[in-house]
Amino acid sequence: MRILSVVGARPQFVKLAPIARAMEGRTEHIIVHTGQHYDELMSDVFFQDLGIPAPDYNLGVGSGKHGEQTGAMLAGLEGVFEQAKPDVVLVYGDTNSTLAAALAAVKMHIPVAHLEAGLRSFNRRMPEEHNRVLTDHAADLLLSPTEVGMDHLANEGLAERAVMVGDVMTDVLYSVREQLSAGNEPIPAGLEAGGYYVCTIHRPDNTDDPARLRAIVDSLAALSKPVLLLAHPRLKALAENHGIDLAAGSLVLSEPLAYPQLVNAVANSAGVVTDSGGLQKEAFLLRVPCTTIRPETEWVETVALGWNVLVNDDLGRLAGAVERPVPAPTDAAPYGDGHAAVRTVDALLSAFAK
Ligand code: UD1
Repeated sequence: MRILSVVGARPQFVKLAPIARAMEGRTEHIIVHTGQHYDELMSDVFFQDLGIPAPDYNLGVGSGKHGEQTGAMLAGLEGVFEQAKPDVVLVYGDTNSTLAAALAAVKMHIPVAHLEAGLRSFNRRMPEEHNRVLTDHAADLLLSPTEVGMDHLANEGLAERAVMVGDVMTDVLYSVREQLSAGNEPIPAGLEAGGYYVCTIHRPDNTDDPARLRAIVDSLAALSKPVLLLAHPRLKALAENHGIDLAAGSLVLSEPLAYPQLVNAVANSAGVVTDSGGLQKEAFLLRVPCTTIRPETEWVETVALGWNVLVNDDLGRLAGAVERPVPAPTDAAPYGDGHAAVRTVDALLSAFAK
């Protein structure tokens, strides 16, 4: 069987890593990179550090408005699918690359499997929400990371196509954490273990309105410990345009980190402040308190278990949330056991093998 994976953005490279490994020797695997993320620190380092085979195709689509970017991918992927003739197209998560690949495949009557199916924010302002809902309804096999995801799929009439496999990002995190504890990765320069926060901000709702971005940056700059700000290119560009200083007060401005360095930085921090999806979960798995600057989250288990607090409009609550005491310990494992990739490949082979 020939499975073709389409990835394009940073979190998808992380998800691809354990899948590519689990497919070795079991099925033919073709990797297509749409080129949505193209900076070395947003793309290449993930392939190197996580041992992902080089993509067989790279569409080099790059940045653009949503329609422009998604359309360019759709056109490029059609040509690739014609040439590669996959039996199944596997799409990951909720980015524009996910939707483009799902759409290109169904139009060509190629079966589609969606990894990380069933997540919902119910916030229709988020491009990711359109991407994941449309992808789930287009796909033939829905691979869900959580029971909550399975429930959402059932509520939308998709239960028959859904399989619970667990979260593949948990697989990666556990294996990287093991490598780190064997070695001696230094914490970022100038910071002390347990004496800093790790922060990422990149969602359009937080970055695109200058008044909102300024208010967020001011709140972060006023925190009582240094805040290691791992700046996504979107954040850097917008802050520069609006004359917002990303190194003010407590802020320590940094480039995005490679995955093992990110895990190490989070594991040694006093807390995480973010609007990323993956980082909320990584903080939880490393048992580091997280504060999420969003009105809602797809990873509701992190909030229910007390390890994640949402702050959105009332940024006056941010400092209190970030500096709150460490939550009660838990051994709950809502994201699986670190073997989701093997279950994913099993599910793909049993659904589509001829
Ligand atoms: C995308 C995903 C988001 C995911 C995030 C992870 C969509 C709609 N959003 O958001 O779900 O959480 O990736 O990081 O698909 N840029 C660069 N170099 C790069 C990549 C981006 O400079 O390598 C800049 C460009 O100015 C670009 C902007 O960042 O316009 C935003 O990139 P884009 O891929 O459109 O969306 P993300 O915000 O990265």
